[in-house]
Amino acid sequence: MKNLLFPALALIAVLSASGADNSPALVPAPQYLVCDSGSGFDLCDASRIAVPSGDRVLMQTAEYMARELSQENKLTLKPAKSSVGELLLAKDPSLGDEAYRLRIASEGIRIEGGSPAGVFYGFQTLRQLLAQYGTTLPLMRIEDAPAFAYRGAMLDCCRHFFTVEEVKAFLDLLALHKINRFHWHLTDDQGWRIEIRRYPELMKIGSVRSETVLGHNTSACDGVPYGGYYTQAEIREVVAYASSRFIEVIPEIEMPGHASAALATYPWLGCTGSGYKVQTRWGVFPEVFCAGKESTFEFLQQVLAEVIELFPSKYIHLGGDECPKTSWKECPSCQQRIRDEHLKNENELQSYFVLRMERWLNEHGRNMIGWDEILEGGISKSATIMSWRGSSGGIAAARAGNKVIMTPNTHCYLDYYQTSDPQRLEPWGIGGYLPLSKTYSLDPYDRLTEDERSYILGVQGNIWTEYIVSLAHVQHMALPRLAALSEIGWTCERRDLEDFRRRMEVLRTLYDRKGWRYAPYFFDGTDAPKP
Ligand code: ACM
Ligand code: ZN
Repeated sequence: MKNLLFPALALIAVLSASGADNSPALVPAPQYLVCDSGSGFDLCDASRIAVPSGDRVLMQTAEYMARELSQENKLTLKPAKSSVGELLLAKDPSLGDEAYRLRIASEGIRIEGGSPAGVFYGFQTLRQLLAQYGTTLPLMRIEDAPAFAYRGAMLDCCRHFFTVEEVKAFLDLLALHKINRFHWHLTDDQGWRIEIRRYPELMKIGSVRSETVLGHNTSACDGVPYGGYYTQAEIREVVAYASSRFIEVIPEIEMPGHASAALATYPWLGCTGSGYKVQTRWGVFPEVFCAGKESTFEFLQQVLAEVIELFPSKYIHLGGDECPKTSWKECPSCQQRIRDEHLKNENELQSYFVLRMERWLNEHGRNMIGWDEILEGGISKSATIMSWRGSSGGIAAARAGNKVIMTPNTHCYLDYYQTSDPQRLEPWGIGGYLPLSKTYSLDPYDRLTEDERSYILGVQGNIWTEYIVSLAHVQHMALPRLAALSEIGWTCERRDLEDFRRRMEVLRTLYDRKGWRYAPYFFDGTDAPKP
């Protein structure tokens, strides 16, 4: 079988050289694709989506497919437990978990996956082929599998709040790009967004700020209270919605910094015990959880006990970034803790804090992710590092034998501007200049040796929302750069920017069909550096 197949990029290159320009245009590029001769297969209204095994998850996936095809292609397809159908779905345990095989033959379409997730990714490929060719599809065979197990996207729902419907719309966008992790940023200085039943004041006080700063952190505020949180029922709804798209939701509960909303609610969580507020400006604040008092750990453990009931994910993100140590330096309880635990300084106190919370998570069957700052005072072997201040934290962690998710701000911060002249062209970003070509150039392995590379779990794009207030703006920041990250996460080293440009034209038609906003700059060339 294998010798019949060509690497997809090589095949596309051959077709381009011969002048054919309608070769399959898929993002991410599949591992192997070969076109067969024949007049094609017509997926029409009378078609059935057949699941011979009747597998429950595959049946649900078939229903998802029927809904998408009805919306995107005006096709009415009937899912059925049957061994005959024009679109047949099956598991093939000989394939890797997320791998799939897609065959379009004159008698029908067959998608086989190592698991239902693989079948789901085969369908995402089919969606793109339908967008390119319409319902008369050329005959072909594709064999495909991801390079990385972790392909993530983060949405900050603290700086601005996004409704359950908007979060679901974001998940839909991830699904099309074969992204399988949704990192949900739920607590921060400017708002606590997750219902915790044991601490109801978090919803009354911590979820609301009195007003929001205007512009890029000017001295003026809008005077309008701003708030929102997700009930536990809503969170379960989002987790189920994500799961039906084979996306695992990883919640982030920030500690010990970015804690103002919690401290404003329960001032005993801070070192001084008073004078806190839910922040109305953006930035890094000195109000952090007190590392000296036992009551802080009891609170956070009770919070996490509810969090792990809501989120079945293997990983829980505990933040750990941007934690000023000023209040710890002046706090008698924190200083006592440093002496009692024989710690050298406040950096080691941060490690003590994070290690203690990680141990709690491990005792409850979960693993911790933390931002790369947690490396500073020493970490356990079991911590997974999210490298955001460039790739250097990730490189150091991989060399130390820790697992790593690469999300360097140099390539993966999708709240950065996409052109070098934002004043003229763009809706607000936080700053910087991160055109798609830069995102696409990310090397997740950077300077790592062959052995060290095995610690890289994957890549992630982050959407911080200080300056992003609507779903349309989220989409504008995410698309098309998320497609570049999707290609990196799926294909790793098999990349070609010019070919990607050609293939993106098809994905763009699907964005249009869905009514998703996307930034035009990559498509019209205005993301090039200003002369
Ligand atoms: C971060 O951007 N502070 C992780
Ligand atoms: Zn303290």
